[in-house]
Amino acid sequence: MGVQRLLAATMCVSALITPTLATIYWAGIDESGGEFAPGVLPGTFGVDYAFTNNSAVDIYVKESKVFLPSSNSIIENRIKLLTRDFVLSKVNLFRVAFLLERMCPLEYGLGSKFNETYFKYYKEAIDHITLTRGAYAILDPHNYMRYNDASEQPLSGSVIGNWSDPKAATTQQFGEFWGELASRFRHNEKVIFGLMNEPWGTNTSLVLKNDQAAIDHIRAAGCEQLILAPGNDWAGGHSWFDNGEDSNANVMWKLHDPIHNTAFDIHEYLDVDFSGSHVDCVSDPRIFLSNLTSWLEKHDFKAMITEFGGSNTTGCYDMLKVLVDYMEENPVYIGWSMWAAGT
Ligand SMILES: *[C@@H]1O[C@H](CO)[C@@H](O)[C@H](O)[C@H]1NC(C)=O
Ligand SMILES: *[C@@H]1O[C@H](CO)[C@@H](O)[C@H](O)[C@H]1NC(C)=O
Ligand SMILES: *[C@@H]1O[C@H](CO)[C@@H](O)[C@H](O)[C@H]1NC(C)=O
Ligand SMILES: *[C@@H]1O[C@H](CO)[C@@H](O)[C@H](O)[C@H]1NC(C)=O
Ligand SMILES: *[C@@H]1O[C@H](CO)[C@@H](O)[C@H](O)[C@H]1NC(C)=O
Ligand SMILES: *[C@@H]1O[C@H](CO)[C@@H](O)[C@H](O)[C@H]1NC(C)=O
Repeated sequence: MGVQRLLAATMCVSALITPTLATIYWAGIDESGGEFAPGVLPGTFGVDYAFTNNSAVDIYVKESKVFLPSSNSIIENRIKLLTRDFVLSKVNLFRVAFLLERMCPLEYGLGSKFNETYFKYYKEAIDHITLTRGAYAILDPHNYMRYNDASEQPLSGSVIGNWSDPKAATTQQFGEFWGELASRFRHNEKVIFGLMNEPWGTNTSLVLKNDQAAIDHIRAAGCEQLILAPGNDWAGGHSWFDNGEDSNANVMWKLHDPIHNTAFDIHEYLDVDFSGSHVDCVSDPRIFLSNLTSWLEKHDFKAMITEFGGSNTTGCYDMLKVLVDYMEENPVYIGWSMWAAGT
């Protein structure tokens, strides 16, 4: 999600205590931070960006308490996180954002050559979550299916694989990038590969092609972990059938994973335009996810909702509870992570 959504989307989940985790195997939070200050490259670790706060991760996992700091001291002073402590039961998942232009500096281009310093910081965060604490981590390139200019995210940058844009990285490069990243975590079964945050403003067939290239390279590298593949249109669940011929519903079923361990990555905010930027929660997920749910059942796919949220109003608490219950009652949903905690 874009930074503009953060204010409204930091939220309280105290209404969500003790869910019966019937079909939900993963539940947790989104760790925003590695993608911060996207216009500053390479940026300084701990100043412009950071991944996770290990002590906070420990608290989430050990006490099942989601802690939000009173202010985000590090990066965006316009982001004011709420001061309350939030409680979730069974936090076992962290979705950790990073910026592609930092992992693959522009002088190298998108692909298998990484900035090893940035990777080392990232791996330390992932290893702490997974190896030290035993929770799961979703690797999240927070790039909107774009690479080369993240300065005005989510608006700037060339869509990966767009052959009519000479500055764009290719689908092949995206595949090679994922093959390399995945292979570096091949032996860590607690890692989940989130292919891309919120593709938008491109052809759904291209999103499919890029997703497919990533899956093919990950599997070719011998990695068998769960993959989360996004559709187009900000990964929205409510809009899965929008855009006619080019809808996610019409195109994304063609995705193929040779070992059948890929789920769709869905984002669903509950405000009036599903953007997560308004205080009131008015978009009932039971209504707006129903078509996606049927589609998943029909095509025998699963999904994880890796971004959702609402403000700290009573109406939002109630509707967030509705959404979590809805996911528990519908076995096509296998997990979720909620936006957001900063570093
Ligand atoms: C990290 O989290 C701990 C525990 O929540 C908190 O006390 C500390 O201030 C945090 N550190 C930073 C740099 O935000
Ligand atoms: C790699 O990252 C480090 C740490 O941020 C930075 O000092 C260095 O300049 C980066 N290298 C490239 C090629 O971007
Ligand atoms: C997008 O779709 C349009 C219409 O089908 C097509 O002309 C164009 O080549 C496509 N572009 C890409 C990059 O997929
Ligand atoms: C490809 O890039 C061109 C030029 O920037 C743009 O007009 C077009 O919409 C893009 N197409 C896709 C499918 O992203
Ligand atoms: C679900 O699909 C039906 C049939 O195409 C459509 O009439 C309805 O508006 C859709 N529901 C939502 C909430 O988009
Ligand atoms: C909700 O958040 C706003 C903005 O941070 C704050 O002023 C307000 O006191 C909060 N309300 C509750 C009920 O926590």
